[in-house]
Amino acid sequence: MGLHRFAARVLGSAMVFVAVAGTLAGAPTAASAADNTPDVVGGTRAAQGEFPWIVRLSMGCGGSLYTSTIILTAAHCVPGSGTNTSITVTAGAVDLQSSTRITVRSTKVYENPRYNSTGAEDWALIKIASPINLPTIPPASSADNSGTFTIMGWGATREGGGQQRYLMKATVPFVDDTTCNGSSSYNGEVVPYAEICAGYMAGGVDTCQGDSGGPMVKKNSAGAWVQVGIVSWGYGCARRNYPGVYTEVSAFTSAIAAAAATL
Ligand code: ARG
Repeated sequence: MGLHRFAARVLGSAMVFVAVAGTLAGAPTAASAADNTPDVVGGTRAAQGEFPWIVRLSMGCGGSLYTSTIILTAAHCVPGSGTNTSITVTAGAVDLQSSTRITVRSTKVYENPRYNSTGAEDWALIKIASPINLPTIPPASSADNSGTFTIMGWGATREGGGQQRYLMKATVPFVDDTTCNGSSSYNGEVVPYAEICAGYMAGGVDTCQGDSGGPMVKKNSAGAWVQVGIVSWGYGCARRNYPGVYTEVSAFTSAIAAAAATL
């Protein structure tokens, strides 16, 4: 037990500290069609303004606007809690090179202290130097953990692939804990109270390296986007029997609010 999770987390760390390729399912390229690693397919380009609360973080992760001055991301994307002016947050543009993008520096990081002891509960907050005046996205209530979700990011469009200039998106179905932890899948590695799986058991559509920290979302009954997950880990990307594993945001709504109040 723990093999896939460990491999995924090592990849995540390598990405954070060496800033190499990270990423989301996108259109297959000639190169991806030619190699024999499983392609992360099924993604398409997001439209400008479609997901106004998503942000890109300079260490190669995603995040979301929890408030105009606080970003929600993954614990494995940040180096620890405390003063931190080294992260650049890019918002307001699906094209990371857009001349109209907004960039703001971090001031402080709150890494969920329970991440290291539980190996799950993969969430963190980043305070930024000035407000980003774009829509924010609220955490989902527990009732939202079903159906299909929208995933997105600037990460790799295939396992081992490079980061993307344009934001990609895809739709994936909820996978229950029993299926996700089955013997031909994660075999007990998923922590049910803290993690939610999503993807196709047949593979083909998934988040990937560099999408970490970004939001998995759905529309609530009133038609408003709510955040159900945070991209956390997986065995490879889009592999058969291995859906993506996301931090189950609804389990941490109060902990996140309490942490945000300290920033
Ligand atoms: N840990 C990865 C990152 O840092 C995210 C992996 C998500 N993997 C997946 N198969 N859904 O970007």
